[in-house]
Amino acid sequence: MAIFCRSASFAVRQAASFVFTGARRYSTDAHFEFILANKRGVKENVGLIQLNRPKALNALCDGLMQEVNQALDGFEGDSQVGAIVITGSEKAFAAGADIKEMQNWAFPACYSANFLSHWNRVSSARKPVIAAVNGFALGGGCELAMMCDNIYAGEKAQFGQPEILLGTIPGAGGTQRLTRAVGKSLAMEMVLTGKRLSAQEAMQAGLVSGVFPVQQLVPEATRCAEKIASNSKIITAMAKEAINAAFELPLAEGNRLEKRLFHATFATEDRKEGMTAFVEKRKVSFQGK
Ligand code: CAA
Repeated sequence: MAIFCRSASFAVRQAASFVFTGARRYSTDAHFEFILANKRGVKENVGLIQLNRPKALNALCDGLMQEVNQALDGFEGDSQVGAIVITGSEKAFAAGADIKEMQNWAFPACYSANFLSHWNRVSSARKPVIAAVNGFALGGGCELAMMCDNIYAGEKAQFGQPEILLGTIPGAGGTQRLTRAVGKSLAMEMVLTGKRLSAQEAMQAGLVSGVFPVQQLVPEATRCAEKIASNSKIITAMAKEAINAAFELPLAEGNRLEKRLFHATFATEDRKEGMTAFVEKRKVSFQGK
């Protein structure tokens, strides 16, 4: 089922035309300008967002990021969707923030508008988000991928933070997330020199969790997303919350939070169903509550 819009403002107008049935969101047949968004998987339980600005190698202009946020809002509100995949083209996941858009910005405007603050929407998604990266994931493109919960790479993918070559530094979490993902030494080398990692190097460094032939990438990411979506949505959200806390909290507090969330699973019907199905040797049927 296709979702939405022709421009950011058009997107907002279209959003008003959604019809809600419970938590489930249906859409009009309008289209976005910079992305494609539709549902995938046998049960249509995977939301696919494809960055679609090929002439600019999916450079992340403001309108594109607003549309990504809009599509995420749509999928998060759609009770059928259990996981989301973000991808680009075979040549580029995204070649970074839009340099032409930023070229003439000055500090007061950047600061006043809190430039890039709305890029964080991906990292606050409650549903799992997989980045499927073919081609270039540079600057903001690499940062967008790292905001996702895991990264699958096509075998020709290239990851890098080349902002230093433009006289600036990563501004959408690159210095923080890359360092946590690959360690200080490699992160320093990448950010200070602009060095890129191949898909294989990214796999070795722990930045990605799988490398696939270029054309298999999106089907593989979709399969992984379908697998995630087949589990209990509420327990999945707890697992995601616990892992993300590992990036924010000291070990003792992280372990305490994990324990509380683990205990909380015992307040759900899905925990009871999961263990009962195992004991009764039957197929599990999760309801998301
Ligand atoms: N912003 C705007 N336009 C971009 C772009 C970007 N980040 N990356 C590529 N493009 C445009 C090019 O200007 C070109 O457009 P024209 O045809 O109108 O000239 C088109 O995309 C194709 O690009 P190339 O001709 O350069 O393609 P290539 O195959 O020779 O090179 C590339 C590909 C190595 C990715 C090269 O385009 C490149 O180095 N891009 C910039 C990468 C970069 O520096 N990213 C960081 C941006 S800053 C940032 O992201 C800050 C942050 O932290 C958020």
